[in-house]
Amino acid sequence: MKVIRSVSELRQYSIEQQSNGRVVGFVPTMGYLHEGHTSLITRASVECDVVITSLFVNPTQFAPHEDFDSYPRDFEHDYNLAKKADCDVLFVPSREEMYPYGESTSLSVGDLAYKIEGKFRPHFFDGVATVVAKLFNAALPNKAFFGQKDYQQSLVVKSLSRDMLMGVEIVVCPIVRETNGLAMSSRNKYLTD
Ligand code: PAF
Repeated sequence: MKVIRSVSELRQYSIEQQSNGRVVGFVPTMGYLHEGHTSLITRASVECDVVITSLFVNPTQFAPHEDFDSYPRDFEHDYNLAKKADCDVLFVPSREEMYPYGESTSLSVGDLAYKIEGKFRPHFFDGVATVVAKLFNAALPNKAFFGQKDYQQSLVVKSLSRDMLMGVEIVVCPIVRETNGLAMSSRNKYLTD
C-alpha cells in the first residue's frame, strides 16, 4: 500500500489509473479506523479496481467548543488496518495541503444542513461538504463509499455530487455494530463500559 501526502501526486495517480481503464474507489475518513471503515474499504475493493482511503481530521466541520484537538489519531493503527482491508493508497494530507489558503471558499448545502443533527451543529454539514468536495477534487474517484451510520451526511454528500455535477457515484453501506448493538464509531473511544 502506497502512502501519498500531496494533492498533485494523488490526482496524478488517479488520472493514470483511469487512463488505464481502472475504476477508482474512494473512502474518505477522519482516521482512527475500525471495522465500519474497513467494511467500506472492502466493499470498495470489490466494486472498484483501486481503492484510495483518506485520513484527515477536517477542522472546518468542528465548532470551536468541539473535540478537534482531542479527536483520536493513530497513523500506525490506521496504516495496518487499511493495508489488511486491501486499500491501495492511503492519502494523508496535512492541514496546509488541504487548506493552503485558509478557509476562504466554502460550500453551503442549504436546508439539509440545518435539520436533525444540523440543528445542534449548524457549522457541521457545510464543513463536511467543503472537505468532501476538496477530497473528491484530489482523488478524482468514480465511486465513493460512506457509512449509513451517518445517514444525514450520506444525503448531504449525494446532493453535493448531484448538484455540483461531480459525477461521483455515492455508495451507502450498512452500519457495522459491536456485539452489544452499538454502532461502531471512532468516538466510541470516549465511552466508558
Ligand atoms: O464521516 C467522516 O468521517 C467525515 O465526516 C468525512 C466524510 C471523512 C469528512 O471529513
